[in-house]
Amino acid sequence: PFFRKSGAEKNILPCPRHIAIIMDGNGRWANRRGLPRSAGHNAGAEKLRQVTEWCGDLGVKYLTVYAFSTENWSRPPEEVSSLMSLLVKFLKKYDPEMERQGVRLRVLGDMVSLPDDIRATLEEAVENSKNRKKMQLVIAFNYGGKRELVYATRKIVESALKGKIKPEDINEEL
Ligand code: FPP
Repeated sequence: PFFRKSGAEKNILPCPRHIAIIMDGNGRWANRRGLPRSAGHNAGAEKLRQVTEWCGDLGVKYLTVYAFSTENWSRPPEEVSSLMSLLVKFLKKYDPEMERQGVRLRVLGDMVSLPDDIRATLEEAVENSKNRKKMQLVIAFNYGGKRELVYATRKIVESALKGKIKPEDINEEL
């Protein structure tokens, strides 16, 4: 392992506070084994369970995973719907384990345009886990950097139109 809790040992880095992972390569993983892409996604979800546990044990406070991008809607409809069901299955199957491990769940991304049942499951899982303290698993779902910039710009313009901010107030921090 690269990281140890203390960071005191030679050539071993201190444990990071936040690790972010782009969940990629599921399809290639499955192809190489002559399996359908869905098998790669299942294996990816199972690996996420394991990585979450490793992060908790090491003392990582935040694990962010990029699971579904706003561009992923252009995948075949069967793949999109199997990814949605896999997320729901993951949340239901592993919630007791995440509870034991003190894992609080957060989501980031455009919840509004998700199917109602998926959004409801996500919101419920987030709400149920809100008192867990050891670490946070942040799932970026229906997330996109471009969409985030659009939303941020809209909010800034709304504030400007209400006269709350002036153009010169706009900086990187805002
Ligand atoms: C990228 O691999 C992976 C995805 C687009 C989906 C990842 C999402 C899940 C496993 C769904 C469940 C989510 C959670 C948080 C449990 P790819 O298909 O782009 O692989 P490739 O680049 O090899 O084709």
